[in-house]
Amino acid sequence: MAEFTPRVFSGIQPSGGLTLGNYLGALKRFADVQDAGVETIYCMVDLHAITVWQDPTALTRATRELCAGFIASGIDPEKSILFNQSQVPAHAQLAWIFNCVARMGWMQRMTQWKDKAGKNTQNASLGLFAYPALMAADILVYHATHVPVGEDQKQHLELTRDIAIKFNNDFGVDFFPETEPVIEGAATRVMSLRDGTKKMSKSDPSDMSRINLTDDADTIAQKIRKARTDAEPLPGDLDGLTARPEARNLVNIYAGLADMSAQQVLNAHGGQQFSAFKPALADLAVDRLSPISAEMSRLMQEPAEIDAILARGAERANTIAAPILKRTYEIVGMVGA
Ligand code: TYM
Repeated sequence: MAEFTPRVFSGIQPSGGLTLGNYLGALKRFADVQDAGVETIYCMVDLHAITVWQDPTALTRATRELCAGFIASGIDPEKSILFNQSQVPAHAQLAWIFNCVARMGWMQRMTQWKDKAGKNTQNASLGLFAYPALMAADILVYHATHVPVGEDQKQHLELTRDIAIKFNNDFGVDFFPETEPVIEGAATRVMSLRDGTKKMSKSDPSDMSRINLTDDADTIAQKIRKARTDAEPLPGDLDGLTARPEARNLVNIYAGLADMSAQQVLNAHGGQQFSAFKPALADLAVDRLSPISAEMSRLMQEPAEIDAILARGAERANTIAAPILKRTYEIVGMVGA
């Protein structure tokens, strides 16, 4: 195996609204790795967003708001490369090559495809089906070695490895790395506040099911107060959370926000009723999230500043991606590459 310089890549779709799930599963962890001494590349994946219908004006706004969310969460556009996917053409170009490497059967097995396409697969966009090949291209066009994501992206990252391995085998090269998913911490799967068996998601019809990064302090506190729980006090150890998905979710959220393990949260709060734990969690959430929401609103007043950050990020990203794409074309045998 060739040696690859460690490089981190991850992406988020600008498909409207960031949740606490995106923050704890992705943004906060992106900010944490930024200072670990490796190159970090973070992308607003607008080409992925349009695999389902996006109103053009809303897409523009959501992309800027997502960029504001990255910065407000602590990602520094000087330290990390921050850009939107459509501005670096190598993503779409490499994705085409990968469309020809990946197999239909691989795509058909993707649970996200099955969930998002629903029963009427004939009516889903071709882009939605090919989505994981574009995701593989996002990562491999930078020879990224580590990809921090929430648990829901695990299957896509396994497919990314399959594509890299098949490309390397097909062409007899050792060119693309086998990327490692990084799914770590207490909150890699934040669940709905209304149903502890469902993922917290921006597409859930109930706004009470999620905390949005743009929610104000009162709204955050109210959503936590009304979160579904059971009647038991918090247990003293993790075994006591088995079969209590709502309780486990609140403990994990606390742990994620406070940079603690779930067991440490139980050491401190075990034995408490939710009437005591929920206000503590609400205070913590407001304390951590209010500055983010305030900074996002401030940045949203400065769209030109955001656009300049994205343009500069795209230039830097392109400098890394273009030679890797060129070499890929050479390997494939394209004349003029
Ligand atoms: P997306 O836009 O759905 O979500 C962005 C990130 O947030 C994480 N996440 C969660 N983590 C914990 N709990 C939750 N409830 C929760 N909801 C979302 C996701 O796991 C993800 O890390 N396909 C990707 C975007 C993408 C990408 C990439 C990611 C495109 N290309 C390349 C990594 C590398 C997606 O739809 O994420």
